[in-house]
Amino acid sequence: MEFESLLTAAHDLAPHLSAWRRALHRWPELAFGEQRTAALVAARLHEWGIPCATEIAQTGVVAWVGPETGVTIALRADMDALPIPEENEVPYRSERPGLMHACGHDAHTAMLLGAARLLKAREAELPGRVKFIFQPAEEVIPDEGGSGAWRMIAEGVLDDVDAIVGLHVDPTLPTGRVGIRPGPLMAAADRFELTILGKAAHGAHPYQGVDAIVLAAQVITAVQTLVSRRIPASKEAVVTFGTIQGGSKENIICDRVVLTGTVRTFEAAIRDQLEAELAQVASLVRALGGDYRLRYVRGSPPVNNDGLLTGFVSRVARQVVGAEQVVEIPKSTGGEDFAWYQQKTRGTFVRLGCHDPADPQPRALHTPTFDLDEATLPLGAALLAAIAIAWLQEYGHREGRSRLRSSS
Ligand code: NI
Repeated sequence: MEFESLLTAAHDLAPHLSAWRRALHRWPELAFGEQRTAALVAARLHEWGIPCATEIAQTGVVAWVGPETGVTIALRADMDALPIPEENEVPYRSERPGLMHACGHDAHTAMLLGAARLLKAREAELPGRVKFIFQPAEEVIPDEGGSGAWRMIAEGVLDDVDAIVGLHVDPTLPTGRVGIRPGPLMAAADRFELTILGKAAHGAHPYQGVDAIVLAAQVITAVQTLVSRRIPASKEAVVTFGTIQGGSKENIICDRVVLTGTVRTFEAAIRDQLEAELAQVASLVRALGGDYRLRYVRGSPPVNNDGLLTGFVSRVARQVVGAEQVVEIPKSTGGEDFAWYQQKTRGTFVRLGCHDPADPQPRALHTPTFDLDEATLPLGAALLAAIAIAWLQEYGHREGRSRLRSSS
């Protein structure tokens, strides 16, 4: 298959892709609050005559192009921003104090819009359906009910979907590069809140109380041995304490310390083990006269890329960006709620280089100076559209459908 005309059309779209991305960048919205973002998405889709449903999982938008033939590939973008104050001095700088698109979701949304535009123009060539999923709330692990992907699935967005592809910009790769990995790519991301309870006393008479700060220190130290002494060396896991809060004055024995943290794992058994052992380690405070409460909240499962779909996407990417630009990337202990879609259907998550080699600034994701090379935008839009066209041409016909079914 030739994708040259698709790339040309994507490059013609580049000024619009930048304009949409910049409009979104100026007005970042947090998880489940993406009203303006969703309105921009729906307005463009309406303009192009693409049917869509809004207010899925609060602020999600779902659109579709192509006939209903029984084969549907979904393309997914996330729309939420982060509570980070932007430090970039750029014309499209965030206009909302304290909020910023520091994870590139503005670019993901713009690229998926671009893909929808490109595919609408080729609708007659599609032997199946492409579904566009603009989801809210990728960045959160809510106490109950799950993040954006989880809620979109609960509202049925995957019920007619056979395969799903998502992409994420990656500032560790130069613009033009596509990162692929079959199998496990990203970790399960859980969080916890551990409250350690002691007994208050005068700081001059610690024996009359139970010092929650000393208990917390012992727990923190003991937790360091979970990964190093309890998990086999061949497995990967991370336990991080992110915050510690306790005490009010230097001469008071503190009766309460609250610790929060995150646990990252790639396998269900290791995940179960760490959750149980975290509680077991915390319980040592009881032997020392204190007590504890542990709230462990499971976030998204690991991102596990389907072998067949990943191989297929890799072949398409070679044709779109050039074989030398498609690389296998290492596993990451980062989390991504795209994993929820993969629990339900075959899916693959792709990285798209967005670092301008001429840019001397560090541009790590989730930092106040994150920014991306907008030359990435037409590439991403073309790549998504090419994957959808190629997949439907391969599997959208009756014979392809049965091959697909027998391979799963
Ligand atoms: Ni992200």
